[in-house]
Order: sequence, then C-alpha cells, then structure tokens
Amino acid sequence: MQALLLIHAFPLNRRMWDPQIAALKSEFEVIAPDIRGFGEYQPPSPWTMDEMADDLRTMLDSLGIQTCTVAGVSMGGYIALAFWSKYPERISRLVLANTRARADNETEKNARNEMIAAIQQNGTAILPDRMLPRLLRPNAPHDVLLAVRKMIEEASDSAATYAVMAMRDRVDFSTSLHRINFPTMVVTGADDVIIRAEDSRALADAIPGSRFITIPGSGHLSNLENPEEFNRALLGFLRL
Ligand code: MLT
Repeated sequence: MQALLLIHAFPLNRRMWDPQIAALKSEFEVIAPDIRGFGEYQPPSPWTMDEMADDLRTMLDSLGIQTCTVAGVSMGGYIALAFWSKYPERISRLVLANTRARADNETEKNARNEMIAAIQQNGTAILPDRMLPRLLRPNAPHDVLLAVRKMIEEASDSAATYAVMAMRDRVDFSTSLHRINFPTMVVTGADDVIIRAEDSRALADAIPGSRFITIPGSGHLSNLENPEEFNRALLGFLRL
C-alpha cells in the first residue's frame, strides 16, 4: 500500500483530516500525526520547521516507511517544504494546499509577534474569533464551523505560541522550487483569503510540471470545506 502523510494546519490537529482518512484508508496507508504540542502529542516544546521535519523522518523510520506522498494544508505545507528540503529522497509525491513557499515579510512577522503577545496575555481563547472568519469561507457549513472551532479551542497556549514562532521564523523556499523533481499538486480554495488563489497559482508555476487545482466552495481549509472535491483531486493525483 502506498503511504500518505497528511500534515495539519494551524491551530488545528490531526482530526482535520478525518474526511480524507475515511475516503482513502482502504487504498492507502494514511498517516495523519498531531504535530508537536497539538492534539494528543503533548507536552509542547518550542520547535522549528527543521525540527518538525526531523520529527516526521523519525516517525516514518519507526513505521518502516521509506517513501510516501506528503500533503500539507497551510502550516502543514510549510512543514512539508521543510521536510522536502531536508529529506527529498523520502518523498514520492507532494501536495501543497492553501500554502506558500516564501517566508513571512516584515508586516507578517509583526502580525505574528502581535499574535504571540495576545496569546500570552489572554490565551488561545482569542483565536476562534480572530481566525474562524479567515479560515473558512462565509456561510461555511455549520458542522464544519463547529468542528474547526472545537479543534482551535483544544490548542494549548504554548503549542499555539511555539507554532506561531516557527511560522514566523521559517525559511524561504521560493527560489528553490525548481528543484522539486517529483509529481506535485498545488491546491487553492476559490475563496481563500489567507493564501490568495493567484499566490497559489504562482507557487504552481514555479514547480516544474506541477498540477494546479482550485477547490470551489472553499476558503483556507479546502480539505474540510469541500471534502468531496478535495478528495476527488487528491485521488486523481495519487492514482496518476
Ligand atoms: C494555517 O492555516 O496553518 C495558518 O493560518 C498559516 C499561517 O498563519 O501562515
């Protein structure tokens, strides 16, 4: 069975992949870990994207998996690119959804610092109201809204802080994308306000031979907001 490693977004956990696990587990060995600090992977400790890549390599080693498809949504995409940069030989295919390759600019870094200060002052209770309107398209299905809210509420203050720090300090991969030499699919949400469709298009254009897919009826969390279309795109790509 082909292995498929799914890396979740911020500040969610592995449960955001439930619709993909249900649809794909009979055909693929699906691995959807909680990253450090989130979900069941406690307690948190500060980490960098590089260390997260090492965590994933250790996990694949322990499962005896040599190569796999790596798919990440948003922060999961940042981690996927860090993993690619350190361990390209472990990837057979790559899916970059609602994500970008460049590092944060100064304005974005300042916004990260403001968010860290707000979490330190008031805890992750501030996150749902700040993030939900940006993560999901307007009028997203109520059950999706509730599920995402619940995952955000479960994130601990330190996990959220460390993840924001890791995102703020991540390396810029935008000038090395031409070196990606395996099948890659870039996914965007038609209504994503965090990573705009045109930025995803530019990401796809920078990766030789990549496939570019727009998920209709979806904001930033395309795999959750329109799982039917996301799964169709993913399966089409995996069965290539
Ligand atoms: C995510 O969805 O993982 C984050 O919003 C990404 C980010 O803040 O850059």
